[in-house]
Amino acid sequence: MFHSSVPQTAPVVDPSLCASFARQFLVGTCVGGVLPASLEVAERALLTRHFNVLTPENCMKPGPIHPAPERFDFTASDALVRFASESQMPVVGHCLCWHQQSPTWMFEAGIGRQAALSQLREHIHAVAGRYRGRILGWDVVNEAIADDGDALRDTPAAREIGADFIERAFELARDADPGAELYYNDYNIERPAKRARTLSLLRRLLASGVRVDGVGIQGHWQAGQVPFEDIRAAIDEFAALGLKVMITELDLDVVDRPDCSADIAVQRAYAPAEDVYRDGLPEPIASAQAAQYARLFQLFGERPGAVTRVSFWGLHDGRSWLNTWPGKRTNHPLLFDRAGRPKAAFHAVLASIGGTP
Ligand code: XIL
Repeated sequence: MFHSSVPQTAPVVDPSLCASFARQFLVGTCVGGVLPASLEVAERALLTRHFNVLTPENCMKPGPIHPAPERFDFTASDALVRFASESQMPVVGHCLCWHQQSPTWMFEAGIGRQAALSQLREHIHAVAGRYRGRILGWDVVNEAIADDGDALRDTPAAREIGADFIERAFELARDADPGAELYYNDYNIERPAKRARTLSLLRRLLASGVRVDGVGIQGHWQAGQVPFEDIRAAIDEFAALGLKVMITELDLDVVDRPDCSADIAVQRAYAPAEDVYRDGLPEPIASAQAAQYARLFQLFGERPGAVTRVSFWGLHDGRSWLNTWPGKRTNHPLLFDRAGRPKAAFHAVLASIGGTP
């Protein structure tokens, strides 16, 4: 996976990304597989040098971790929590309740509110309880707001439990790990209509006394279409509720995709001719991406204290989910290339601190 053209023992000379932003926010990434073996030695060096918070890419999601009512698989999650602790990196738990990568039995059609609630309780207590005291914060509910219309997304949890599955999930998470921060996480919630629905959900939770500590804007944007002004407004409006604001899954896709969502249900086949950056990212595209990353990091740093964490969704381009979603193509959405070398975007982001690059 890691195509290194430089000797793996080459001295690291680039400034550390997370150290450069240490006074502003944490800088993280997701990681997949069973650590430490899922990463090569040079990748682990890249990870611990540039990032100071970890999110499991898949292993803590309801499906992988709790495949059957009486069966849990903690192999990868235990390994990640151990690796993070040895590397002195906090862990963001992702995620306790989501309609994707979730086992059908948990909110099986027709089981009714009480059975569904009790399964949600068992799930959250088992998972958040196992890592009690070792998780910085949990994405308690992921992607509950509909993309269109004025309602919540139509999901098995919402159908079986009712709209208050969100309140209940947050209460259960608070009880299971009172020391962990509790987040609502979603994509496109910077966009005006979905942002308004998110604000009303968050206000509803806060008004009813449910503890919510932060909101995660996923940040799966397309290069050339980054909604900077919406992002700025969303950060301000979420922060005005007294919530921490986090950019939780940042990447800037350079290949066209069918819509601007990050809905994993959306699929599209790419013909070989559409795999336009198979041989690498042309310099003009890399520079344009770099300028957009720099502008984003300037914006994240603009309101001291509002943005508390910026996490990328992948360590380097070769590890990005955008190589396979919404279909197979070669993508280049992150700050490091497939060999772990810093791209123009990395240098532009660092240059953005304290001024225009
Ligand atoms: C993605 C993972 O990166 C993939 O490996 C997996 O196949 C599908 O899910 N929003 C989220 C993340 O909250 O959990 C998703 O992660 C990307 C979209």
